[in-house]
Amino acid sequence: MCGIVGAVSCDRNILPILITGLKNLEYRGYDSAGIAYLKNNKINIFKTSGKVSKLENKLNKSDYSNIGIAHTRWATHGKANNVNAHPHRVNHVTIVHNGIIENYEEIKEMLREENYSFKSSTDTEVACALLNYYLEKFNDIDKTIKAFISKVIGSYAILIFIDNDLDNLYVIKKESPLVIGVSNNINIISSDIRAILKYTNKYYILDDFEYAKVSSNEVIIKNSNGDVLNKELHTINIKDNDNSKGHYKHFMLKEIMEQKDTIYKTIESYIKDGITSLKALPDLTKYKDITIVGCGTAYHACLVAKYLFEEVTNMRCNVYLASEFRYQNNFLSKDTLTIFISQSGETADTIAALKLVKSKNYPTLGIVNVENSTMSYLVDTCLYTKAGCEIAVASTKAYTAQVALLSVLVLSHGLRNKSISKEKVLKVIDEFNNIEKLITPLLNNRKIWKSIAKNIYKEEDIFYIGRGLDYYLSMEGALKLKEISYIHSEAYAAGELKHGTISLIKKNTPVISSATNPNLNLKTISNLKEVLARGAIIYLLCDDNYKDDNFTIINIPKASLFIKPILVIIPYQLIAYYTANLKGTDIDKPKNLAKSVTVE
Ligand code: M6R
Repeated sequence: MCGIVGAVSCDRNILPILITGLKNLEYRGYDSAGIAYLKNNKINIFKTSGKVSKLENKLNKSDYSNIGIAHTRWATHGKANNVNAHPHRVNHVTIVHNGIIENYEEIKEMLREENYSFKSSTDTEVACALLNYYLEKFNDIDKTIKAFISKVIGSYAILIFIDNDLDNLYVIKKESPLVIGVSNNINIISSDIRAILKYTNKYYILDDFEYAKVSSNEVIIKNSNGDVLNKELHTINIKDNDNSKGHYKHFMLKEIMEQKDTIYKTIESYIKDGITSLKALPDLTKYKDITIVGCGTAYHACLVAKYLFEEVTNMRCNVYLASEFRYQNNFLSKDTLTIFISQSGETADTIAALKLVKSKNYPTLGIVNVENSTMSYLVDTCLYTKAGCEIAVASTKAYTAQVALLSVLVLSHGLRNKSISKEKVLKVIDEFNNIEKLITPLLNNRKIWKSIAKNIYKEEDIFYIGRGLDYYLSMEGALKLKEISYIHSEAYAAGELKHGTISLIKKNTPVISSATNPNLNLKTISNLKEVLARGAIIYLLCDDNYKDDNFTIINIPKASLFIKPILVIIPYQLIAYYTANLKGTDIDKPKNLAKSVTVE
């Protein structure tokens, strides 16, 4: 979602740096782009709907500039067009913004009374006008920012360019991610350190309500009272920053294939010495229960964890969508550990939920993929999934890494509270040690996934059903398919169908299912027969030798409860991928979606 880049240098052309920075942020999702830079003492602004490459083509190749700001916009207020694209300029102030100004209508009214008029439908133009208004009123940047912070409700990372102060950029931050990269003779501001790693690995992180003045050789960070802060300069050492597709057509396929390594890599340190290394995981026996919070795919990983914690360790576990969590009674106490799951570590709803728990001083644990992300700093303890950089919007390897990490957490808790025997734990560790062998045939069996894709890609509605753990996996399977193929797909608990949904089943409606629980399989199969009787075409993933000529049955390896989610989800990922591929959609950047959802 929206990306920000800004750069100031005393001796370098920052234009290629801004464009490269925007390109590195493309994976977050956006629908228009823009840039403002200083040339011959004048601010030049270029904007476009569509891709960064289109913006790049609009620039004069011979232009040179030492200072500028740039943006990729994911439309929230107003269509994705040139007028609404950032930067916005009002009188003497030019800005780019990531976030949402919630009270922008009230501010707009106030500014109209002060004779301001607006060209765009955006909240950002209102923020820009407000900054200009305060700047004219106070003629002082500190007072301007202080007034801005106390007036504005919402989230923002804003980069400001001021006409009579063109050697500096100003940055304000609340809730939306922002880092300031520091290097010799150049300082670069970005929504994501990975966007500017080519230039520096040293950076400051701004906390909420802090702001900074960034010049070519200095970064001054202040709190909202205007006091100068002595912030820590961080260093990031990312070894795995291979952001190329290799020989794959899409990042998504590459990332699906990488699961051969990423699952094991995530849990290796917790299983390499058998039971002993599991002890490195946090001790959960001091808590009465667990709450787990996430969004989208991460939420589906939360559900798998709930199943495992409750089924295996008898530990009660509540799961919430982060976007709902804040607005309901969550019955938290100091005896509840709240776990937050996120690939990016920047999801606005998850961060807001985390801040709520922290404000009450209750314990928190994060399961995060991106190192040094906002969530990783906020949680009491952070466990990293080691999925590596996930570029495709549809999450695949991050999900299986989350599930694997949660599985070892359940195992370690099971050992501690004696709900699972050492022998059983060792057996699961053994399966994880052999995970590559178990999943490689599924990854390589492209013929079967492609043939299912061929059968379903022209359909309008597809249903995923399952019971217990298989129901939670259906939810992830349906999400994968809908987000990249744009086919309407829904997951239902198999037993729920006849309470309503079965009315949607008609001749040739595909129904995809998994049955991996011997206690529930016959019940699921009965439900499949009910839809079969109404004309559905059934695809069943199954780990026993069930046979039925009326179904397309795909055998998956038999494994423990801890490995089953991985063995079911890989086929679901591949079915989604090949279906979308046949439909010719923009698989890595599906329409309307963003990789990192940084607004509520
Ligand atoms: O970065 P996060 O894990 O916090 O992101 C959560 C969701 O936005 C994300 O999983 C989303 O649902 C993916 N597009 C799913 O493939």
